[in-house]
Amino acid sequence: MSVSQQVFLRDAMRRLNLTRDVFAGRIGVKRRALDTWLLPEGSQEYRAMPEVVNRFVTEIVENEGLLQKYAQSAQTGPLRNRIAAEGKPQLLSVDQFTRESVEEFFRIADQMQPIARRQKVSRVLEGAVLGNLFFEASTRTRVSFGAAFCRLGGSVCDTTGFTFSSMAKGESIYDTSRVMSGYVDAMVIRHPEKGSVAEFARATNIPVVNGGDGPGEHPSQALLDLYTILTEFSRLGKLLDGAHIALVGDLKYGRTVHSLLKLLSLYRGLKFTLISPRGLEMPDYIQDQVSTRGHVIEQTNSLEKGLPGADVIYATRVQKERFASEEIEGYTPDFQVNKAIVDQCCGPDVIVMHPLPRDSREGANDLSVDLNHDPRLAIFRQTDNGIPVRMAIFAVLLGVEGLVQHSLRDVTWSPPTHIGPDDSVFHGID
Ligand code: NCD
Repeated sequence: MSVSQQVFLRDAMRRLNLTRDVFAGRIGVKRRALDTWLLPEGSQEYRAMPEVVNRFVTEIVENEGLLQKYAQSAQTGPLRNRIAAEGKPQLLSVDQFTRESVEEFFRIADQMQPIARRQKVSRVLEGAVLGNLFFEASTRTRVSFGAAFCRLGGSVCDTTGFTFSSMAKGESIYDTSRVMSGYVDAMVIRHPEKGSVAEFARATNIPVVNGGDGPGEHPSQALLDLYTILTEFSRLGKLLDGAHIALVGDLKYGRTVHSLLKLLSLYRGLKFTLISPRGLEMPDYIQDQVSTRGHVIEQTNSLEKGLPGADVIYATRVQKERFASEEIEGYTPDFQVNKAIVDQCCGPDVIVMHPLPRDSREGANDLSVDLNHDPRLAIFRQTDNGIPVRMAIFAVLLGVEGLVQHSLRDVTWSPPTHIGPDDSVFHGID
């Protein structure tokens, strides 16, 4: 025995939560014998415990641990049941999460990091097929969902745009969804209408993930954004409770900020500054939901007023494609998040985020490229986190998260140590 007999027995009694009398009865020995085994080794009365008792106690403690684990999971159930929508394994909105379930979810994303960072491979989704149905423009969301599924051993079928889909021939969401369910084991859907992905989900029993429904929600983006904030804060020694988050840009049509604001509100005592041009303010129903949870919300149209003291600046693009009547081509120059305003208003440990794509066209005044070599710019750490987070989404919805750890094998090829030539020194290191 590597630990002393005394420590071993005391630990067993503590874990089983038993008194000496009851413990002696449980292992079938006299209380007096147990007392002598529990004495320090130097004591006159000390007796060595027979090896068979050692094995028996070890077995009881291990069984009890398993029973406790079983009782706990029976009480709380698998994560996919706790985050289910309408009783089905789907991810439609961040409203499906509590703080406990989102943190449990992130521990699963952590387990995916060695795979996402190309150190390990896994085949837990071997044989499964993902239908990636994107009826609206996308690069990173579509590819990262596909790559995440492939990195768990599954395969992906893609379809992009309305023009090449049967929806252009007038097919209903119900028919499309039911037909696809016969072909694939999970679907990720992006669609220009709010609520449309929920309609897809009602027509199937296979897992459905909302990859963005018009100006509605983008839950996987919010999950990877929150995961990034927590990872960055842990590097900086900061807590999310009580932090100051500035959301900047088109907060009216930007679905990423809708989902992110709601998800962040699961934490405590946050201060949000919502900085948007006039007419593009965060919808009231989301602000109301967040303020009932006791957070401070301030609204302004000025970066200079809203940014001072922020721990996170989350910039977004003008969602021009969703405008019916508004005449906004881009942000005015004074609304651009760039190095000068970040230096003027924030400290050295602020983090600057953006869901991407950045609109780099002249006159757009989206997040400036002059922060590209600034380690405070977290946008590529953020996009890299899309892979472990989306792997975790599939693992949970398909119920394989418990198999990942034991399925890991070393990669056979040699990936570069740093995937981006301008990555900061701490990129990819937790
Ligand atoms: C966002 C989206 O599609 O909502 N992009 C993304 O998924 N990362 C943001 C945007 O298009 O501006």
